[in-house]
Formats: sequence, C-alpha cells, structure tokens
Amino acid sequence: MMSIAASVLAGEPGSRVTLVYGNRSEDDVVFRQALTTLAATHGDRFVLRHVLEEPRAKSRAGRGRLERAVAEQELRALDVTKADAFFLCGPEPMMVDVRAALVEGLGVAAAKIHEERFSSPAQRSATGKLPTRAQPISIRIAGRTHEVTARPGETLLEAGLGAGVNMPYSCGLGGCGACKLKLVAGEVVEDEPNCLTAAERAQGFVLGCVSRATNSTTVEVP
Ligand code: FES
Repeated sequence: MMSIAASVLAGEPGSRVTLVYGNRSEDDVVFRQALTTLAATHGDRFVLRHVLEEPRAKSRAGRGRLERAVAEQELRALDVTKADAFFLCGPEPMMVDVRAALVEGLGVAAAKIHEERFSSPAQRSATGKLPTRAQPISIRIAGRTHEVTARPGETLLEAGLGAGVNMPYSCGLGGCGACKLKLVAGEVVEDEPNCLTAAERAQGFVLGCVSRATNSTTVEVP
C-alpha cells in the first residue's frame, strides 16, 4: 500500500490518494513518519486518515477497529465512493468487513476493489484430492502449444518451467496473480486461500503456482 500510494502520488499528478489506516494505537503505526512526510509533501492530493482502537486523549484519529460499521462511517465521511480503485490489505476479517462496507454499504462496484492477501503455505489446503499420477499438460502461450508432463505433486507452473516453457510468475505462493492461467480443458486442485478473485474464478482462471492437474489438462497464458 505504501509503495502504491507513493508511486501514484509521484507519477500521476492528476491523481489523489486516500489512505484509511487502522491500528491499535499510534505506536503501532508502521510507516508513521514516512506517511506524515508524504502528506506534507503532497498536500490535499494525499488524505491520511488514521483509525485507532486506543487513541491518545487528544488524538484526531478515528476511533475503533476497522469493522464494517466503523469502516463504512469513515469511508462515507471521506467521500471516496467515486474513486477509480480501492486497495485493501490487512487481516482477513478486516478485509471482509471493509469490502462489505464498500460494496453493500456504499454501492462501490466490486470490480474496483483489489485485495492483497497473505497466508503461509502451512495455512493452506488443497481444494480436492491431490493427483497421484503424472498428468499430460498442454500449455498455450504466445501462439504456441507446449506439451509437458506434470509429475505427482508438481504444479502447472513447475511442470511448465521444468520443461523450459517461459511461463510468467512472481511470488510462487498464490499471492500475486502473475501466474494466472485460463483453464481451457481438464481439472485442477488449487491451494487455498489464494489471491484469485471470485470474478476470475468464475471466468475459469487458475493460478499456475498453486494448481495441480488431476487429469489431462490444457491451460492458456492470457
Ligand atoms: S506466482 Fe504469484 S500467484 Fe502464482
């Protein structure tokens, strides 16, 4: 969030950024000084609203935890509902509540909301039974089709890269979306949670880095 805000403010003179930042107390605010400097540098192009569960007596921060009602009240007061995009990052319950506040409370289109989710591999589980046999995979990329084999346990991305296919990826953990693939045919099981949105899932996208084919499968790099 910090780098997105800083780069938008530096690179898009016509854009404004509003940051609603929830913490327990002033002392828990990561980047507190850097944010104060950013606000001082960019004037009214950067609106910084702290929301604290335990604010000091004279604090002008919002009060409370960023739950649905508090989030809706803060966002409504900031008059941000016409913003081009919304970015959410933080604990899962907070993201669920803020998304609900935006979509159900303030009428923001879900497609405008972007979320950054973190989870350790130990917290994930596959959506189905993992394959125990090697599976043939067809990978379509840049007008060519590569036939590769995924060994048991290998993800689509590992199978493709292992066969020399230049597939895009970044985090390798299901958190960034860089390895997104269109599932053309076949079936996969995916590690959950991952960063795919409900809309992307409905359109048939899977993440190569956390998906394993359970039968003969064709995917396409979009
Ligand atoms: S490489 Fe980041 S989600 Fe797959």
